[in-house]
Formats: sequence, C-alpha cells, structure tokens
Amino acid sequence: MLRVRGSYAFGILFRDIPEKLYAVRKDSPLIVGKGKTGTLIASDVPAILSETRTVCYLDNMEIAELSADEIHFFNIDQEELEKKETLITWDAQAAEKGGYAHFMLKEIHEQPKAVQDTLTVYLHDNQIDFSESGLSDALLKKLERIYFVACGSAYHVGAAGKYILEELTGIPVEVDLASEFRYRNPKLLKDSLVVIISQSGETADSLAALRLAKERGLPVLGIVNVIGSSIARESDYVLYTYAGPEISVATTKAYSAQLAVVYLLGIRCALVRGAINENRCSALVSSVKQLPQQIAKALEDPERIQWFASKYINAKDVFFIGRGLDYAIGLEGSLKMKEISYIHSEAYAAGELKHGTISLIENGTLVIGLLSQPQLYEKTMSNLMETKSRGAYLMGVTEEGNYSIEDTVDFAVYVPKTEPLFAASVEVIPLQLLGYYLSVSRGLDVDKPRNLAKSVTVE
Ligand code: G6P
Repeated sequence: MLRVRGSYAFGILFRDIPEKLYAVRKDSPLIVGKGKTGTLIASDVPAILSETRTVCYLDNMEIAELSADEIHFFNIDQEELEKKETLITWDAQAAEKGGYAHFMLKEIHEQPKAVQDTLTVYLHDNQIDFSESGLSDALLKKLERIYFVACGSAYHVGAAGKYILEELTGIPVEVDLASEFRYRNPKLLKDSLVVIISQSGETADSLAALRLAKERGLPVLGIVNVIGSSIARESDYVLYTYAGPEISVATTKAYSAQLAVVYLLGIRCALVRGAINENRCSALVSSVKQLPQQIAKALEDPERIQWFASKYINAKDVFFIGRGLDYAIGLEGSLKMKEISYIHSEAYAAGELKHGTISLIENGTLVIGLLSQPQLYEKTMSNLMETKSRGAYLMGVTEEGNYSIEDTVDFAVYVPKTEPLFAASVEVIPLQLLGYYLSVSRGLDVDKPRNLAKSVTVE
C-alpha cells in the first residue's frame, strides 16, 4: 500500500491463504459488510443492500481481512482496529425498479417523497432545526461569505443556491466547480462557510475541495445523501438529504432533495441574521412544505412530454435559456438531456445569447425558454422572440396562469406556481422527463449512459 500510487480499492486473494479476502483502499470508496451468507466488499451501499444494512467504511491505510463469517480490521502496522459500524436505514426494495422501466423513471417519481422525507427531518413545528448537525445560529449569524462547491448536478444546486441565498440572506455567495476550486488557490474570507454538495459523498474533486477548505481553517458543511460517506465523515457539519439510494447515473431525486436543504439553509440563515422577519419566515416555510405536492402535480402528465420528445429524437442542438434562477435550472435541464440522450445542448443566460449563441439558431432549432421568475418574464420572453424570428422552434416552461405564453411559444408546459425562489423544484421536472423520454425514444441505456459513472471517485 505504501508503494502503490494513485487511488484504488482492491479486494485481494492470496493463493496460499485461500480462506481469506483482503481489502484495501486509497481515496476510492470501499465498504465492508457481513451478510446473510457471508462477508462482502463493495464500493457503494446499494450493491450489498439485499445482503446487509450494517457496513463499515474502510479508511485509507487500513486493511480489512474477511473470512466467511468474520471481519477483522488492521492498520498499516498490522495492529487490530475497532471499527464503528454504520446502520443503513434504506430498505432493499428501494434499490429495485419496482415495476418501472428504468431506475431513472422510478427516481423521478420518487421526488415528492425524497423532498418530503428530507423536510420532515429538519422541520419541527414549522421551525427549521439543524441542531443535530451541530450547525449553530451563532455560526450562521457571523458569515461574511458562503462558498458552494460541487460537481455535476450538485454544482447546479449550488448555482441555484447562489440566487436563493443572496436574495434571502444578503450574504454574498460564490459557486465553484470542485475541480476548479481545488486548483485555483482560492482566496477565502475568514468568516465564511464552505458548503460541499454531493449525493454520493465520494466525488474525488469535491472531497479534495473539502480538504482544501479545512486546511485553510474554514468550517465545512456537507450536504450529502450517503450516510457515513467520506464527505459526510470529513465535514464539520452534515445536513443529510433523505433521497434514499439513487441508482440511475443521471441524478434526479438527490438533486431535488439537495435543493430542499438549500432552501432551509437559506431561510434559517436569513431569519437568524434578521434579513427576514418571523412572518416572512413562516410564509417561506409553508411554501417549502407545499413543494412535495407541487412536484407530484408537475409529474401528473408525463405523456405530453413523451409525445414532444418523440418529435425531437433527431435534434442536433438544443438550447435552454433563462435568466436568474431559470438560468441555473437550465444548466440542470441541459445536463440531463446531454448525459442520457447524447443530444448536444447548452444552457445560456438569456441575456448572453446575442454575444454568440444566437448565430447557431437555424430553422427548426429547439430553444427551451424557462420563465419562472416574474420580474424577468418579459426579458426572457423577448429573447425567445429573437430566436423565433431566426427560425427557432420554442418550448416554454412557466407557471400555471401565464397562459399568454401560448402567443409566442409553440409548445407550452405549465408547472404549479411556487414561491419564485423555490421554482427550480417544479420547473426541473419536465426537463428531467424530456431527457428521459428522449433517451428512451432513441433506444439508449438510460440508467447507464456511455462513458459516465455514478460516483466519480477519480479526478
Ligand atoms: C456524476 C453523476 C452526476 C453527479 C456528479 C456529482 O457525474 O453522474 O449525476 O451530479 O457525479 O456527484 P455527487 O455524488 O458528488 O453528487
């Protein structure tokens, strides 16, 4: 182990010790569990859920020695270690398709529950309670800056979080891709909080960013789905999401649960700093509590999106445009489309179109306009018209009631009206469905898109 370079997770059998399996790891995750019929190693909990719920996380420079019915742990000096067991509360069925054609579709439909389960943990008598995480009001009160750092969809939650938290709390918020943050020698303010968002809790770049923030003496809050994962263990504070196991490579329910935590973080922070009063806080909490039902409503008519997707299976380029929070939602919608349907798409801040992208619009190019922010509606609408006059075919996603959108767009999708700051939770739903149905119509492997992995444990 001292001589192997890079990151790895190995299970090793020795010809002359046939009864034993040894496991070691460096930076890549490795879990060990005792099942009904033997002992097991795996890289992730869902793989062994049907066998056991009690797992141990191996750390770097530790060795697990497994026989059929015993597990022993040692450090690099071969001294035996006591390891804490983690109880996984997910049930085995959660890692099965349960009648759905794909895990992704199942997980899309589990979003009301994922958000509800997450809210239930942190909302007590309509008060936001983070006490179990240790995240104190005193810390939130003195913050000068918040840094959201993450990869992929979790980064898009951070991108949305910037708009939401700046608006609610008045604290300047920066968002960084973890792979950039870790190498750019970031200049970080003293009284700040680094928030690492991660479904798996094992993403190599996010973990490295976490360690960098800690080296710089900053408190780190992890928003993590997998209990006991590396990011959860190394963060100073953890707010877990309760999305349950997510199997599909393209995330949906974990993204939604992360958004819910970000809303609560923003509201709590704003309240303790006096940026909002009790009344506004109660109104925001009650808006958040409606989200599970509203997400369920947004999921009610998937066939319409399916029909629309079937018309666009041969699209070459698709553009998502929006302003403010809608831009952040567009980033996620575009990623969903790219990763599973392999159709090239880009999310553009609508106001940036005329600085380059509009030259790509041709007759029939699909442009998806996102219009959830009342104060930006007219602006985005006029950008949509600019693309239409150059031949674009327009899909518009907006809240129920904005029926005048039909005057401009060719295909309108309505989502329930939420507090505008929380619109991502409903607006992302048709975009996830669009990506999903495009992938299915094109006959692709929805749950395991080519070249992608669920947990990116290497940089
Ligand atoms: C991979 C997944 C994405 C995910 C990203 C970050 O690329 O395919 O769905 O958003 O990693 O993963 P994390 O586990 O840190 O949220």
